[in-house]
Amino acid sequence: MAKAKNHTVFFCKECGYESAKWMGQCPACRQWNTFVEEPVAVDAGRPGGGRKASGKSAVPVPVSEISLEEQDRTSTGFGELDRVLGDGTVKGSLVLVGGDPGIGKSTLLLQVCRNLAAAGKKLLYISGEESLKQIKMRANRIGDISGELLFLCETNLDAISGAIEHTRPEIVVIDSIQTMYREDLSSAPGSVSQVRESTNLLMQIAKGYGITIFIVGHVTKEGVVAGPRVLEHMVDTVLYFEGDRNDTYRILRAVKNRFGSTNEIGVFEMEESGLAEVKNPSEMLLSGRPVEASGSVVACSMEGTRPILLEVQALVTETGFGMARRTANGVDYNRINILLAILEKRCGYAMGRYDAYVNIAGGMRVNEPALDLALVMALVSSFKNRAVDPGMLIFGEVGLSGEVRAVSQAAQRVSEAVKMGFTSCLLPAANLEKLKGENRIRLIGVSNVREAIRQLS
Ligand code: TYD
Ligand code: MG
Repeated sequence: MAKAKNHTVFFCKECGYESAKWMGQCPACRQWNTFVEEPVAVDAGRPGGGRKASGKSAVPVPVSEISLEEQDRTSTGFGELDRVLGDGTVKGSLVLVGGDPGIGKSTLLLQVCRNLAAAGKKLLYISGEESLKQIKMRANRIGDISGELLFLCETNLDAISGAIEHTRPEIVVIDSIQTMYREDLSSAPGSVSQVRESTNLLMQIAKGYGITIFIVGHVTKEGVVAGPRVLEHMVDTVLYFEGDRNDTYRILRAVKNRFGSTNEIGVFEMEESGLAEVKNPSEMLLSGRPVEASGSVVACSMEGTRPILLEVQALVTETGFGMARRTANGVDYNRINILLAILEKRCGYAMGRYDAYVNIAGGMRVNEPALDLALVMALVSSFKNRAVDPGMLIFGEVGLSGEVRAVSQAAQRVSEAVKMGFTSCLLPAANLEKLKGENRIRLIGVSNVREAIRQLS
């Protein structure tokens, strides 16, 4: 009956796909060389696997009898984080904070702990990576901590579970899930089965006691350590902390959220004393913008409910020899090729003989069609070596016939332009109707790319 004790299975360390044999490419996430062999205990490895029926019967509850309390949501003290979470943390939820090592996950969560402790909450910060002294050093950098914030250096989740039961904190931070292990599993900490089972236990604790648990997960590229995607489906909210390590600002993005939208982003800046919120990202992204330079235009991207102005840069130069080179930083490479083809076919520019380099200043990544018109204008501006009016904001989607199509939330974009002191706005003619009352800024409606390009001559 009992399986052999040394039974092993293969897991994809990127997404957790399970297979009886090794494979070169994961059929689920299509990554190469991600399979690792792990032992599986007979009783564990799979949630609920091998457990005996207890004979208990569960009782369903009608929806009308479920009550929502006011205090179910708690502000983290960071407006930027609250918005990404969907108006603060939810009692009994599991939040995964993923990101590259050194991006600032521990710093962010320690600062959240500091804010919440000051607001009278009871917290427990569990680190499996740093000693108490190291945490204290970090804490000293971010400022004084008052209130009930407890620290624990431990990696054994069964011991942690006991500590949580004992101290009954309202919020727990697990830093990081890849260092945690459960005694009853024979695989090493950081392996797919350990990470999964550990998260499973944390989920039971969170739901059982109504504790909010933040879990740190490192994004790892090599080694056998499982990535945060393995536990994405088990948690309530998945946040990714992104940014260039050489740059000071960081963007917090939700990729899954059971309690809010996934469109919102939070912007932070890493300073000497920890992370600071960037309340006005447009200002930050436009700082240092060259004035009267060809190939530089300002576009507007909607990040959830928030319009963000950013600088689009293009450099178009004659191809030295052979094939034209194209690169795209922060925007989709294929989109640039399509826009260049539209310029070639609909406007008669011989773009095939020119290299084109496109960049979004400040390291932002944008995937919105409303950026098209700004990209076209930046490319043509560089091609013709004519600067676009620096006081002009540009947005609009471009279709394959060269038509400029309406975009959503035009009024918000225009308002942001007004707020940031822009004097004119190049936008789809189809959006003008709804903006009739707007007299704070000059609106230039265009219905195709050729009309838009006339602004440059
Ligand atoms: P950390 O939170 O340890 O990253 P993670 O937990 O995601 O691995 O962040 C480490 C980086 O942040 C490190 O390079 C130093 C920098 N940092 C500051 O610039 N200022 C600070 O106040 C702190 C605490 C860290
Ligand atoms: Mg850390």
